[in-house]
Amino acid sequence: MTFTEKDFIPNKSTQLQSPFTAEWTSPSNIALVKYWGKYDKQIPANPSISFTLNNCHTQTKTTFNTANELSFEICVNGKEEKSFRPKIEKFLNSILGYCPYLSTARLKIETSNTFPHSSGIASSASGMSAIALCIMSLEKVLNPGLSEEYFYAKASFLARIGSGSAARSVYPTLVSWGKSETLNHSSDLVASPYIQAASFYQTYQDCILIIDEGEKVVSSTVGHGLMNGHPFAENRFEQAEENLTELIHILQDEQKVDDFIRIVESEALTLHAMMMTSNPYFILMKPNTLKAIELIWKYRKENNSKICFTLDAGANVHVLYPQNEKTNVDQFIIDELSSLCQDSRVIFDHVGKGPVRLS
Ligand code: DP6
Repeated sequence: MTFTEKDFIPNKSTQLQSPFTAEWTSPSNIALVKYWGKYDKQIPANPSISFTLNNCHTQTKTTFNTANELSFEICVNGKEEKSFRPKIEKFLNSILGYCPYLSTARLKIETSNTFPHSSGIASSASGMSAIALCIMSLEKVLNPGLSEEYFYAKASFLARIGSGSAARSVYPTLVSWGKSETLNHSSDLVASPYIQAASFYQTYQDCILIIDEGEKVVSSTVGHGLMNGHPFAENRFEQAEENLTELIHILQDEQKVDDFIRIVESEALTLHAMMMTSNPYFILMKPNTLKAIELIWKYRKENNSKICFTLDAGANVHVLYPQNEKTNVDQFIIDELSSLCQDSRVIFDHVGKGPVRLS
């Protein structure tokens, strides 16, 4: 079903009557075709598709209490975290029209990540999707008739408002987001699971090389903004649409893995090329990012491997490889790539089954 914005505005207004708690874990995701550039109201400039991860996730418990007006507190790893307040405040205020029951609620949001929040792993994707899912659990209590399809679509819609890539984290395995000519029911408002992928891709491994744990010099949100007026923006948005169209066919066929590699690596380098050609320009890769890429290419050639890489908006490298190469590639990572990482840190992860409700 294709949802419109109106579908997410409740037609009857129910208010919170008694305290309610929901707890979810929600995963991070890694884009294969990248979302980079957006319009007003978190509308992506091009469609994207991602692998949902498994081990990199956020666990969030939200307690809703009755109150006279919307207010919240946020605790990260058991400690109140004031630096998160502006983003959450903006998020909650921007979803009030879709979740009017929050206007008389006090939220206590207790959250923890399995990975460092500034490590370049998209913590906003897992974090925002986890809060959105908690809010939807409350909405389901207030309106028990909601279908499962609607529940996740609205969770994706709300998560998107918090952070674009978070829209994709509410679904398992492979997920697309953004209107595309080639994908039926694709939408700028919500993500949708891409279920036609061959099992070969549904069990892909992703090992994240923590090349640099530091805070990024330019945030994704600022980076998206620099696509406005970027000299290559229009070509880039067209290219992303073409890459998505090609990739969704490739994903149905294990034999096309070389094309998968070509598109995924090109997308990663194009993302960073956009950063390097923005005004002002910036570079998020570090010398060891390039060293890791060279070693991955060398390993691929020498071992006839299907290993490849992608990059997020940061210095870290996501090493992608099929499950049947896991033993050998894991060893290669430990022997040759981990020394390029801060404190030799790598996170072994794989394509995952999506968020899980804990209570
Ligand atoms: C490079 O979703 O973090 O990871 O919508 O401003 O919160 P905001 O940005 P965000 O951007 C993610 C960019 C990316 C590519 C991707 O995930 O598709």
